[in-house]
Amino acid sequence: MIKIAVLVSGNGSNLQALMDANLSGEIVGVISNKSEAYALERAKKAGIETTVIEHKQYPNREAFDDVMHQQLLDWNVDLVVLAGFMRILSAEFVKNWEGKMVNIHPSLLPHYKGMHTHQRVLHTGDTLHGCTVHYVTAELDAGQALTQGILKVDLYDTVNSLADRVHILEHLIYPQAVEWICNGTIQHLENGQVLYKGQLLEKPIQFCQF
Ligand code: GAR
Repeated sequence: MIKIAVLVSGNGSNLQALMDANLSGEIVGVISNKSEAYALERAKKAGIETTVIEHKQYPNREAFDDVMHQQLLDWNVDLVVLAGFMRILSAEFVKNWEGKMVNIHPSLLPHYKGMHTHQRVLHTGDTLHGCTVHYVTAELDAGQALTQGILKVDLYDTVNSLADRVHILEHLIYPQAVEWICNGTIQHLENGQVLYKGQLLEKPIQFCQF
């Protein structure tokens, strides 16, 4: 059974969705870089081991990432799932976990990499928005996209309403993508290619909320 570690920084609603899903992998541990993250409470309630590795206590990104890497090795982790983990990872860490680490981002990548995605979508006046699950590579929010949840931006949407609506989609597509990795429906090959049901995945599997 695939062993999963989830990395968090905040509320952890995506962690909750992953814990609630009947995954064929096992979540063996949760790491937070913030001791006050509510995600830690959620994990504890579910009986999952947690550890806090506060980035502020380390002289640089590499030193912090080294400690995380060691913890992941101690847990014998096969898959690292970033769920609202708000730290940029060092190139070395990403290389160590390439093909074994996924992230969820609140936009339809490649659009709106980085922060404040809902605000930027509203500012531009886009009619579609959503979220993307992707493999993590050294370039920020640029690894191969696996799944996307898509919604129509409503005339009356605000940053908060979009955040809520995108979260609902996230809680659907993230457990699904993680399950596909756990059960082998999605495979990451050594040459970097991704297969879905044995076929080359050229674009993300899309779920539309309309
Ligand atoms: C989610 O919307 C996720 O897409 C976003 O943080 C939120 C975490 O919510 N991630 C990023 O912005 C990463 N670049 P949660 O703590 O309730 O799961």
